[in-house]
Amino acid sequence: MSNYAEIREKFEKSGQGHVFKYWGGLTDSQKSRLLSQLEEVDLEEIAHLNETLLFANKTESQVDFSRLEPAPYVKYSENKEADPVWQKAKSVGEEAIRAGKLAAFVVAGGQGTRLGYDAPKGTLPISPVKHKPFFQIFAEKIRCAQEKYGVEIPFMVMTSIINHTQICDFFKSNAYFGLNPEKVVFFKQGFIPSVDKFGKIILSDKGEIALAPNGHGGCLRAMVRSGAIAKLKELGVEYISYFQVDNPLVNIIDPYFLGFHILGNSEMSSKMIPKAYPLEKVGHFCIYNGKLCVIEYSDLPASYQEMRDENGGLKFVAGSVAIHILNVDFVEAKGADDSDCKLPFHVAFKKVPFLDQGGNVVKPEKPNGYKYEMFVFDALESAKNPLVLEGLRCDEFSAVKNKEGIDSPATCKRDQRRQFAEWLEAAGVSLERDSEKTPVYDIEISPLFASNKADFVEKWNALEKKPEIRDGLYIE
Ligand code: UTP
Repeated sequence: MSNYAEIREKFEKSGQGHVFKYWGGLTDSQKSRLLSQLEEVDLEEIAHLNETLLFANKTESQVDFSRLEPAPYVKYSENKEADPVWQKAKSVGEEAIRAGKLAAFVVAGGQGTRLGYDAPKGTLPISPVKHKPFFQIFAEKIRCAQEKYGVEIPFMVMTSIINHTQICDFFKSNAYFGLNPEKVVFFKQGFIPSVDKFGKIILSDKGEIALAPNGHGGCLRAMVRSGAIAKLKELGVEYISYFQVDNPLVNIIDPYFLGFHILGNSEMSSKMIPKAYPLEKVGHFCIYNGKLCVIEYSDLPASYQEMRDENGGLKFVAGSVAIHILNVDFVEAKGADDSDCKLPFHVAFKKVPFLDQGGNVVKPEKPNGYKYEMFVFDALESAKNPLVLEGLRCDEFSAVKNKEGIDSPATCKRDQRRQFAEWLEAAGVSLERDSEKTPVYDIEISPLFASNKADFVEKWNALEKKPEIRDGLYIE
C-alpha cells in the first residue's frame, strides 16, 4: 500500500478525507480495495460537477425553453417498397451491411434500479413463450442479419463495474448464443462516485465508496479508452448501430436507417417515434440555437410537453427511443481524452445505500444521493448533419424500466405478442385479439426465422406446411 499517503493527502486536500473514516478498522484486503477504488476517482471532475451542478442547482447546459423549436424528421413511409427515396436508402444501407461496415452496440452498463432485478437487466427472461433473455434476442437478430447479408457483424456490449463479470459469464455459459465469440466485444464504461447534498462522496460501506456508472453517454469515452473503437477500425467497421438493453423490439440491423444516415452524410442519426401521450417519459427531439438536441422529459416543463401546434397535434411530438447510428470516426473524436467538445454531465437525485452515523449500512427508501451522468444524445449537438428518422412504435420500441405497471415486463411481452400478431396478419393469417388489440394467444416468432415484417411474410408464404395458430405457438 505504497500509495496510501499520497492518495490520502489528495482526498484530504479536496475536502473528501472522510472516505478514510474507518481506515484503521479495515483488513489489508479491504484497504487495498478501497485504495484501488479511490485511485480511479477524478477529484477535479467531482469538484467541478459539485460546483456547477449541485451547488448551483442547474444542469450544465441551461436552456431557454421559449426558444425551443420542434426538430424536423424524415417521415415514415407506409409504402416503403414503392417509395423511391426509401428504396434508395435501403439499397445503400444493404450495400454497407454486406461490406461489413456496420457493428451492433448495446449499452448494458446501467444499474436497473427501477426494475429491481438482482442480475444484469440483459439476462432477464423477456420473450413471451420461450422466455429468452434480452441478450439472446439481440444475438439472434444479429445472426439473422448475418445470414441474410452473408457477413459477420461485430457485437459490442458495454458493461460497467457493477455487472461486467456477470454479463461476460452469461454469454460464455450460453455459448455466445451462437455468435462468434471473437466478434463479441465486451468493455467496461467509466464510473463516478455518488455524492450527498454537500458534495461529499458517499461511503456505501466502511471500506467502499458508492460508485455508479457514468451514464450511457460514458460509452464514447469508454469505446476509445477500452480499445473497442480501434478494434472496429481494424475490422473495417464505419458505422455503429446503438441501442439499449431493455428494448427487445429494436430493429438492430436496419438497412433503411443506415441508408438514410449515409445518404444524409450524417455523423450521428436517431430514430424517433411520435409520443404516445403528451407526458410520456421520453426525450424530445428539438432544435435549440440552430442545433438538434434531445431534451429529457424531466428537464422539459409539462406545459411544453403538452403544447399543441397550429393543427392541434403535439408541437414537440418526436420522442427519442435511444436508437442511433454513430460514425466510428465521430466516436473516436468525441470520446478522446483531449476532445474539445466533451459531453456535459447531468445530475440525478437517486436512492444510494449509505453508512449511518453508527457505521451501519442503510438502504434508503427515498432518494438521498446525487449521481452524475452523461447522456449519449448530447453528442447530437456536435454531430455534422444529424438526422432523425420516424419509426413505428409497434416495430421499434417497448422498454422495460419498472417491475410492474407501465414499461414493465408484462407490457413488453404484450407488445412483442402484438408485433408477432401484426406480422402474421400481414401474411394473411387471422388471429383473435382482445378489446385492447392484444392477441389472445401467447405467440412468439424467433428472430432466427425473421426479424422484420417483410422478411417474415416472405418466409411464411414460402413454408410448405404452416403451423397451426394456437396458444404457445413458437415459430423458428
Ligand atoms: P436507463 O436510463 O433506463 O437506466 O438506461 P437503467 O440503469 O437501465 O435503469 P434505472 O434508471 O437505474 O432504473 C437506459 C440504457 O442505458 C444503459 C442501460 O443499461 C440501458 O440500456 N446505461 C445507463 C448504461 O449503459 N450506463 C449507464 O451508466 C446508464
